[in-house]
Amino acid sequence: MAEVSHLSVARLDAVEDSTEEWTSGSLSHSQAILTPSEMFAYMDRSPTVLIVDSQEVNRRVMRGMLKQEPYHIFEAGQAQEAISILERERVDLVILDLMMPGISGLELCRRIKSSRRTQLLPVLMLTSVQGIESEVAGLASGADEFLNRPLHPTVVRTRIRAMLRNKAAVDSLEEAETILFALAQAVEQRDPYTDGHCERLSRYAVELGNALGLPRPQLLALHRGGFLHDIGKISVPDSILFKKSRLNEEEWTLMRSHTVRGEAICRPMKNLAPVLPIIRNHHERWDGSGYPDQLRGEGIPLLARILQIADIYDALTTERPYKVALSTHEALEILGAETRCGWRDPELTALFAELIERGIFQHTMPTAADEELRKMETSLLQMGRNLIE
Ligand SMILES: [Fe+2]
Repeated sequence: MAEVSHLSVARLDAVEDSTEEWTSGSLSHSQAILTPSEMFAYMDRSPTVLIVDSQEVNRRVMRGMLKQEPYHIFEAGQAQEAISILERERVDLVILDLMMPGISGLELCRRIKSSRRTQLLPVLMLTSVQGIESEVAGLASGADEFLNRPLHPTVVRTRIRAMLRNKAAVDSLEEAETILFALAQAVEQRDPYTDGHCERLSRYAVELGNALGLPRPQLLALHRGGFLHDIGKISVPDSILFKKSRLNEEEWTLMRSHTVRGEAICRPMKNLAPVLPIIRNHHERWDGSGYPDQLRGEGIPLLARILQIADIYDALTTERPYKVALSTHEALEILGAETRCGWRDPELTALFAELIERGIFQHTMPTAADEELRKMETSLLQMGRNLIE
């Protein structure tokens, strides 16, 4: 276990060093730009392109234009065939003819862009119909790029390369995010007593956010915050994290730093921007006596206040080495007492208590989206275990 901490500190330093390199400009931008093929090779696969066109001759021409490129190519003569391929294959780019019998190119593009699984898949729309109307219709359906026939091979190849480069960047970002989540799971699993803590507090926080009528992006931030809020603890040695006796001042300083260190780890990921205030400010107190910024009242980001209540409630109602699991009633009593002494947001605490008393957490029926999240969590748990084994 101690080795995990040691390794982790080194890894955190590496993260900070690389951030430093970028900001100081010692690593030039051009050095970091890879061709799409290099980026996909890095991910150990070649780019896959799906050509959808009802005219066999058009598909053959397109295939000919891409012959020199290291792409894996699928072809579909109609939309339904394309949908089947998209369901079973990992496609990186769709080249789509606007005019097709049955489900049109526009409709297929709309379906691709409205499905959560394929919404980030780039679509290049082609047409023989000249005119601004078809271009506008193509772009309105969600197509990322639009080209008119006759096609110029160099233009087609250049456009496709640029689109694949973006796709590879999106993929690597998603993978980097997945690694962060797995790392957060590894942190949680250093302490066997907190098993499942992140998952439960994510659920509590999202329910509380839901009761407040927060929009979906903020609910998603709460869900992610549930997993990532303590990721900075990767830099706290086990000897401090699990110390049974009182921490000295120096140890407390290191323990408190998990908030700012966690923020520094996640800051390079643009997608995690809404989660950063949760990570940094989940230990602030309503009266300004918390850390790291001594924010007070509504100056503390709302999502951080929500997560904090969920975090404390879960810690109180689960067993730890130094205490038994408290009942719901006892935990709400303590939360109430902490609110009276000025530490917690009184309105949020009251709403949370009401939700608990209404039994909302026992009776929540999982939706399809919850199921999807549950599957993701299960695989992340496994990745976390693999990381620490
Ligand atoms: Fe924390």
